[in-house]
Amino acid sequence: MKIVVIGSGIAGLVAAVEASRNHDVVLVTKSNLAESNTHYAQGGIAAVTSKNDTVAEHIADTLSAGANYCFEPAVEALCIEGPNRINDLIQFGVDFDKAGSDFALGLEAAHSHARILHAGGDTTGAEVSNALVETVRKTATHIHEHTFVVDLEIQSGVVTGVHLLDASGKHFVEADAVILASGGAGQLYRHTTNPSVTTGDGLAVALRAGAELIDLEFYQFHPTALAVPGSFLISEAVRGEGANLINNRGERFMQKLHPLAELAPRDIVARGIQAEMMLQGGEPVLLDATALGAEFLEKRFPSITKTCKAYGLDLAKTPIPVTPAAHYWMGGVATDTYGRTSIPGLYAVGEVACNGAHGANRLASNSLLESIVFSHRAVEVLGKPWPSNAPETRWHDSGRLAELEIDDPATRPLDTTEVVDRVELQTLMWDNVGLARTRKDLLATRERLNSWRPAAEGHRLFPDWEDANLLLLATAVTEAALARIESRGGHYRLDYPTTQPNMAKPITVSRKAANADH
Ligand code: SIN
Repeated sequence: MKIVVIGSGIAGLVAAVEASRNHDVVLVTKSNLAESNTHYAQGGIAAVTSKNDTVAEHIADTLSAGANYCFEPAVEALCIEGPNRINDLIQFGVDFDKAGSDFALGLEAAHSHARILHAGGDTTGAEVSNALVETVRKTATHIHEHTFVVDLEIQSGVVTGVHLLDASGKHFVEADAVILASGGAGQLYRHTTNPSVTTGDGLAVALRAGAELIDLEFYQFHPTALAVPGSFLISEAVRGEGANLINNRGERFMQKLHPLAELAPRDIVARGIQAEMMLQGGEPVLLDATALGAEFLEKRFPSITKTCKAYGLDLAKTPIPVTPAAHYWMGGVATDTYGRTSIPGLYAVGEVACNGAHGANRLASNSLLESIVFSHRAVEVLGKPWPSNAPETRWHDSGRLAELEIDDPATRPLDTTEVVDRVELQTLMWDNVGLARTRKDLLATRERLNSWRPAAEGHRLFPDWEDANLLLLATAVTEAALARIESRGGHYRLDYPTTQPNMAKPITVSRKAANADH
């Protein structure tokens, strides 16, 4: 079979390496192979590798962080198959940090055990990405860097190829199957820990092609990004090692909000920080890691220590200013537990996908694990019959809270709309569709988004294609956030602050059919 893999983070690289054992693989990435969210991951990969830990506890922690909203078969696949996939990474050359002959395991929020494998201290993502890039280059995979996926080709309801754009123009590549592994869309928000490539292109092409997206209202904001332009991530592992959050009076404030204090689930810590920042006039709170000592910090967190120094901050001597930033999208292209989407031949794995493993709030360091486990599973079923209704592997087949349809802003009239402005869109999303939402703000956002369209196709430069995707996805998140009138995990409504047990069902978003209004 001819397989096109889109994206070169951990999910895309693993999919390409595994698929290339039996298939002809084309790997497409819009920057260079190493530029992905994976590359910047610090904390590590959660998996059970210690005798003191159990898979059952990893499953329980994942379910509990997910706010009673995970799809259990997906969580089970994640935690049970995780240790084998870690062994694969070791075979591919990833050298996880050791303490004697055992792995040196870190602790992060909402984990009941230290189970986070890391490499190079806090440069885990770069170590994993480098090893996989080297591995994929040794396979027969055809690699297309600096190539953008404009759209998918669908014939008789089945994916048949991809429309690509590179420096020489547009191309069509035929495929028997397409694996989307293009990551998330941190660029929807003004403040994000994600790199500039994360413009949600995979979600947008899937939506335009007619695929179902799901759980888009659940977005995770990392509690601790350095309060500097670019929102450099300060890994949760720093709190896991004992650093505390303090306000500008030097007082800890998380203890009064959750029994796990600084290591409470991310949504709780992020909102706790936001509330404290409001009390102190918007000033960032501080992360105090001084008790950990210079020697330990430099060895365990070399990249964080170095970056802080570049901003004139000494992690070992003074508390550093931190603030929440958009980090990870739990929602994505709806898949079953083998990465199969609602379009036959189209798979989605990693952050672009949603199979229910993360529920409404992802457990720290489960994302790299999810990418390797489900890429592997998707490759396992390549060429097998496509299941239609399958509640045992696809949780949204058991019932939905709402099925929304949105139109593509690219179809809006040129004379009554203006071309979208990315910075304004990001600011609007941060202010109104961020950590805390209200109906009033969401309606105002809908109105502004509806006044925009992307640049006309014939006039698009590379960033304009990304802007078209961001506008489509901003619309989709806003509509999903309006439709969920409760608070749960990464979706917090100030006007509906409680969780409603009867709303533990997904909202799907798909494209309105072109003739739906006629
Ligand atoms: C972190 O190191 O805090 C981020 C890890 C993750 O997002 O899982």
